[in-house]
Amino acid sequence: MTAQEKSLIYNLLNKSDCLFSGKILSDFEQIDFKDDVEFSNAEQIKSQANTENGTNNPATNSKPYFKQSQDIEQAALIKNIALSIAQCTSCVLCKTRINTVPGIGVASPLVLVIGEGPGADEDKTGEPFVGKAGQLLDKMLAAIQLSRKDNCFITNIVKCRPPANRTPLPEEVQACAHFLKAQIDILKPKMILALGNTALHNLLNTNAGIKKLHGKFFNYQNIPLLATFHPSALLRDESLKRPSWEDLKIFRNRLLEIVPNYQSSYLNGGST
Ligand code: URA
Repeated sequence: MTAQEKSLIYNLLNKSDCLFSGKILSDFEQIDFKDDVEFSNAEQIKSQANTENGTNNPATNSKPYFKQSQDIEQAALIKNIALSIAQCTSCVLCKTRINTVPGIGVASPLVLVIGEGPGADEDKTGEPFVGKAGQLLDKMLAAIQLSRKDNCFITNIVKCRPPANRTPLPEEVQACAHFLKAQIDILKPKMILALGNTALHNLLNTNAGIKKLHGKFFNYQNIPLLATFHPSALLRDESLKRPSWEDLKIFRNRLLEIVPNYQSSYLNGGST
């Protein structure tokens, strides 16, 4: 079987996986054309994927074997990053993790949601925001017609659980940063929602606290970014729920300006 044939099957399976579960991650084991990919940025991943599916091959450039939709390509690239994260041993968090937690969502998200790092539930399942904070996050997103199944991608600053849920150390954030950069380069979200201090500090390179900067827009690599309270903070302190809702309305209004009909992409919401 040629690389193109493998790519065709791989992408078809990925497509159906995305359609039925809304997930990027799929269960197939045999993706030999994507194993052991070393990369430092999205361009290298793209060139690797292009080589593997034949689009860099002059023989197939003029007459593509099949036409991929952009979504399928992006899903494959995002999956490549997930595979690289699964193999990562660049910081000490790899020693205590059960699973890596690369992120989940649609391949062409309107919104990229960025949290701090996986907790115990996420470490067990490999999915971000599945514990109590995650359930609250899903409700917050649903209130403005966003969901991981329909129009968002959710990830974290670090992709492995810090022991006892401590704040990730600067060297851990640093070691993981290229994965987030590659994800953003590929996903090209219209807007970013940063959750809590760790996301805020590391994305905007600031020490100012979330209480000061929440609800304001910043420019992150030409993408409008708004920071709001982490759902875990809302679970600890009910009084943050009102300002959090105000932030979400500000976020929704800007998204409506950028994509006036974005709510039509919200189909089945967060229901599983
Ligand atoms: N908190 C986070 O910041 N991320 C998760 O994935 C779960 C809880």
